[in-house]
Amino acid sequence: MAVGTALRIVRFNKSDLEDERKQLVDTYFAAYRRFPEYAYSDRREVEEYLHWLFRGDKRGFFVARAGKTIAAWMSVHDSWRGWRGDQREAQGELQELVVAEEFQGQGLGRRLLALAIRHVAFAKRRSIGLYVGEGNEPAKRLYERYGFVVESQWSIWLRMRRPIDPVVDQDLEHVPNDPKV
Ligand SMILES: CC(C)(COP(=O)(O)OP(=O)(O)OC[C@H]1O[C@@H](n2cnc3c(N)ncnc32)[C@H](O)[C@@H]1OP(=O)(O)O)[C@@H](O)C(=O)NCCC(=O)NCCS
Repeated sequence: MAVGTALRIVRFNKSDLEDERKQLVDTYFAAYRRFPEYAYSDRREVEEYLHWLFRGDKRGFFVARAGKTIAAWMSVHDSWRGWRGDQREAQGELQELVVAEEFQGQGLGRRLLALAIRHVAFAKRRSIGLYVGEGNEPAKRLYERYGFVVESQWSIWLRMRRPIDPVVDQDLEHVPNDPKV
């Protein structure tokens, strides 16, 4: 599939996930080629991960397609209470965002991240968090541009968070090219 084919972002349901499981796993590996240290290496693990992601928010699994090719996908949970489920207040959590290498650098990451923030804003959460690998500069830059700040570190993972404005962020589409504007 030629790069430049029109990209369409759709929400996946359970049967989409089943039908296109192989492609979703391929896209995951094609995204993490430069950063395997932050990714699963086993297909089986990624398949299980996909189901875990979907179960956590059945309306939060989004896929960017270029024709039949899956260029990117993302999972966001709008009622996350932490790994142990013990956080009193539910928040948004960007669980995964992957753009296949051949589609990187074309703004897809930004479009999907804006969608994740809108999804959490619709749920009226006060913030959205995520974990990112400490050496994953492209991802860190993307998140910083959208207002995420590092709040702590756990092993090789940085914990980042961004407050949500329940009104403004429901319409968030993109950030200006110059973050200072
Ligand atoms: C991180 C990732 C999702 C970005 O997706 P993308 O579609 O390439 O990103 P975009 O084209 O929307 O670029 C958005 C911003 O990301 C940053 N970025 C993208 N590619 C970059 C690179 N090669 N080096 C540094 N920064 C980069 C930039 O800040 C860029 O904004 P700019 O173009 O205005 O400078 C993608 O690189 C990816 O899938 N990486 C592997 C998986 C991963 O790390 N996911 C995040 C898990 S926490």
